[in-house]
Amino acid sequence: MHPLANTEWPHGAIRRLVPEDHALYREVRLRALATDPQVFGSTLERESALPDPHWRARLADPDFAIYGIFEGDAIVGMTGIAIRSDDPASANLWGSWLAPEARGRGLSRVMYRARLDWAVERGLARVTVSHRRSNVRSMQANQRFGFVLSHAAERTWPDGTVEDELFYALALNRPA
Ligand SMILES: CC(C)(COP(=O)(O)OP(=O)(O)OC[C@H]1O[C@@H](n2cnc3c(N)ncnc32)[C@H](O)[C@@H]1OP(=O)(O)O)[C@@H](O)C(=O)NCCC(=O)NCCS
Repeated sequence: MHPLANTEWPHGAIRRLVPEDHALYREVRLRALATDPQVFGSTLERESALPDPHWRARLADPDFAIYGIFEGDAIVGMTGIAIRSDDPASANLWGSWLAPEARGRGLSRVMYRARLDWAVERGLARVTVSHRRSNVRSMQANQRFGFVLSHAAERTWPDGTVEDELFYALALNRPA
């Protein structure tokens, strides 16, 4: 197993955020939207206006699992998974973000592992993910876990540019 395919590593850890973490969740999500506005479907303008109950409710929703990535006491990233409202046997991966100084060290693997473990525990049939075509890191991160490209769709991103969004799925092995 890769040394980072775990929930803890030297000076760092990934853990699921709980409702009491709502301020921390808001902080890291807004930082993600401010730092990398070109890769997300939402915007800083929209989410910075959301009230405290929104952040707390998201963390309390049993159909969502949102994880914080920590280095020492500092939160340096987040990642999420949510049951799909159009297909309750599936969950969608969303919201992955690492602070620039935490990138390039293989942490995307622990982010995938945590969410896939949650999906398996929930007995889900498949997990989906998407990214902007030019987001090569995101593509390479999902390819490591065997996601299969399903389709592409043109999209206007919040920065105003038009580019394909690529969609992938991974079938999960379910116990017989
Ligand atoms: C996406 C993100 C979470 C991935 O984390 P990361 O630390 O950069 O990724 P990793 O170091 O685990 O690398 C993931 C893969 O991309 C590759 N990679 C790393 N840097 C790269 C680069 N500059 N260009 C191309 N590929 C790169 C790695 O080799 C790795 O592939 P491998 O596992 O086959 O070796 C992080 O880059 C990020 O926060 N990006 C901005 C926000 C974002 O794009 N979120 C996703 C929206 S869909």
